[in-house]
Amino acid sequence: VPAGRDRLRIAIQKNGRLAEPARALLASCGMSWRESRDRLFCYGESLPVDLLLVRDDDIPGLIADGVCDLGIVGRNVMAEQDGARRASGAAPAFREWRALGFGDCHLALAIPEGEAWESPAQLAGKRIATSYPALLSEWLAREGVQAEVVLLSGSVEIAPRLGQADAICDLVSSGATLAANQLKPVVTLFESEAVLAGPMQDLDAARGELVELLLRRLDGALRIRN
Ligand code: PRP
Ligand code: MG
Ligand code: ZN
Repeated sequence: VPAGRDRLRIAIQKNGRLAEPARALLASCGMSWRESRDRLFCYGESLPVDLLLVRDDDIPGLIADGVCDLGIVGRNVMAEQDGARRASGAAPAFREWRALGFGDCHLALAIPEGEAWESPAQLAGKRIATSYPALLSEWLAREGVQAEVVLLSGSVEIAPRLGQADAICDLVSSGATLAANQLKPVVTLFESEAVLAGPMQDLDAARGELVELLLRRLDGALRIRN
């Protein structure tokens, strides 16, 4: 952690589903920003709280490294990266501080529409495409099924049509992407929503007070919404 930093830094998604609602939630806590020209860093004006606009997958790592104090990210991203850290023997480095009540989606196993679903056992020896290898592997282990995990960072839903996989494991929100690719969800592995992510421990003095102010306002905003 850079010594003497007295401004708070919050990482949010630059583009994508959580970007706008995350900003709106922080604005409802009384924050406003002057945007930099490249729009990757927003300097806080009403409070000493700056925004960093990044890829959502980078948010847990930025918190783990102390580059950012807090982040708004899907619980799915946190859980996947936490699982990967655990699998490699690394200590937990971030945790969920608050559930935020938007960005609901779930991680689902899906198979081609024309195929019958009996039980997880039928996946034995099959290939499953996913961007969530840790969560999928944990589930397969729990079910006692040995399958091949095919790692793709996006467009996972076309893998079965390309003959690259027999099933997929991906996030489902409206279900439109699955339907458009003639896939049907058969098991929900994980329920997700946007969360406020932070380090394992509380923050130190100066930023700690700022975080407390922010959390009070955030809890107030969440009470009004939910
Ligand atoms: C997610 C997910 C699915 C899609 C599901 O992708 O990977 O492809 O959304 O949403 P739906 O059920 O409403 O169709 P996202 O748009 O986040 O892009 P990414 O996979 O590139 O991160
Ligand atoms: Mg994504
Ligand atoms: Zn769900």
